[in-house]
Amino acid sequence: MSEMAKITANGSEIELPVIVGTENEKGIDISKLRSQSGLVTLDFGYKNTGSTTSAITFLNGEEGILRYRGYPIQQLAENSSFLEVAYLLIYGELPNQAELSEWDDSIGHHTLVHEDMKKFFEGYPSSAHPMGMLASMVCSLSAYYPESLNLNATDAEKMKTIRRLIAKMPTLVAWIYKKSKGHPFMYPTNKLDYVSNFMKMTFGYPTENYEVDPVVVEAMNKLLILHADHEQNCSTSTVRIVGSSQANLYASIAAGITALWGPLHGGANQKVIEMLEAIKADGGNSDKYIEKAKDKNDPFRLMGFGHRVYKNFDPRAQIIKSSADKILGKMGINDPVLDIAKKLEESALKDDYFVSRKLFPNVDFYSGIIYRALGFSTDMFTALFALGRLPGWIAQWKEMLDQKQPIGRPRQIYIGEKERNYVPIEKR
Ligand code: CMC
Repeated sequence: MSEMAKITANGSEIELPVIVGTENEKGIDISKLRSQSGLVTLDFGYKNTGSTTSAITFLNGEEGILRYRGYPIQQLAENSSFLEVAYLLIYGELPNQAELSEWDDSIGHHTLVHEDMKKFFEGYPSSAHPMGMLASMVCSLSAYYPESLNLNATDAEKMKTIRRLIAKMPTLVAWIYKKSKGHPFMYPTNKLDYVSNFMKMTFGYPTENYEVDPVVVEAMNKLLILHADHEQNCSTSTVRIVGSSQANLYASIAAGITALWGPLHGGANQKVIEMLEAIKADGGNSDKYIEKAKDKNDPFRLMGFGHRVYKNFDPRAQIIKSSADKILGKMGINDPVLDIAKKLEESALKDDYFVSRKLFPNVDFYSGIIYRALGFSTDMFTALFALGRLPGWIAQWKEMLDQKQPIGRPRQIYIGEKERNYVPIEKR
């Protein structure tokens, strides 16, 4: 007999089933609470609400554990390629050699973006934020592939839509970068691997040969893998909730991109570098900014610090921090903001304000320093996060549909005016 939780409410005792996950995580299934008691639950920011069961990513914030489909993030970041991880997230298992070759090959054959879409780029000012452009471009793909709107598409057709999006996203991100520079767009080179192709489209020129440095490919692969999924965060929950209305994949992912843009979520990676630059310009006194972050009358927050779920350390941040040293060393780059970041971290980790609130560097704290070393401009960082997160969003969207989950529609507790009569304007 499965475990039950008992709640006494409205004068009666209600029994609710306890759902147990494979890692022994437990949650009370309250889906029948309202019909049994007339009550709903209230949880601002969903801090303690499980919105779904999921077999994709396991995260234990107390112990700093992150696994995709059971595989520790450290092993994947060390040994696999981004496309291999994308396959794992979407299909549920690591591919064998034949499956991986077929997957790589098919992604390589969908990288072109419809020529007409270049006209959209023409319409944007070169100062447009990459995330606004990216969300619009991804949503616009639905116009070129109307079959993605077909709710009765076969599994093969659905997979083609998924493969198309994975293939075209790097082309779009690279073109957004080119647009910001006013440089000519580069077409994909399909014989290159995913990351090399992306780097060539971003940093190559039509008139020159572009050789991608293997150190750069390794660094980029690692960053994309570390960002590939993170269970039910703000953008992923957005993708699921938009997809639950049966909106098409492109529309659902575009919504995820806009959710990621915010500085409390993926947009933090841009804000971290801007903060570190500001500290540098202000004489490098990191202690002053620690004090500002602690001051409740000051809106300043230490960007790249704190996490809703990690309360000990963020395993992604640990990997990225050690990679930053290695990559900058191999590339012969000495970036003073890396020293400021380390000093800031050292002071914060000794400070009772941060220790007592369990605030540690998150994935965004050091990633921007690597993106910068690779040559990206600061406002591109969140688009790179989106490129990495794409397979996770897709896997979560697919899981939600495969499980035939109902449309997402939370309840509320109304705290507005009681009923009152309309007053004509001359009497107000
Ligand atoms: N600097 C200073 N104080 C902070 C910070 C910070 N970065 N983060 C949290 N706090 C304080 C906060 O003021 C609160 O203090 P008190 O209990 O005295 O009111 C306490 O810590 C708890 O914070 P919270 O805002 O209730 O926590 P949350 O779970 O709602 O927010 C967060 C999590 C990530 C939004 C928040 O830590 C934050 O704003 N961090 C900076 C932005 C950032 O780096 N975001 C990237 C997150 S990781 C990438 C991703 O996956 O999105």
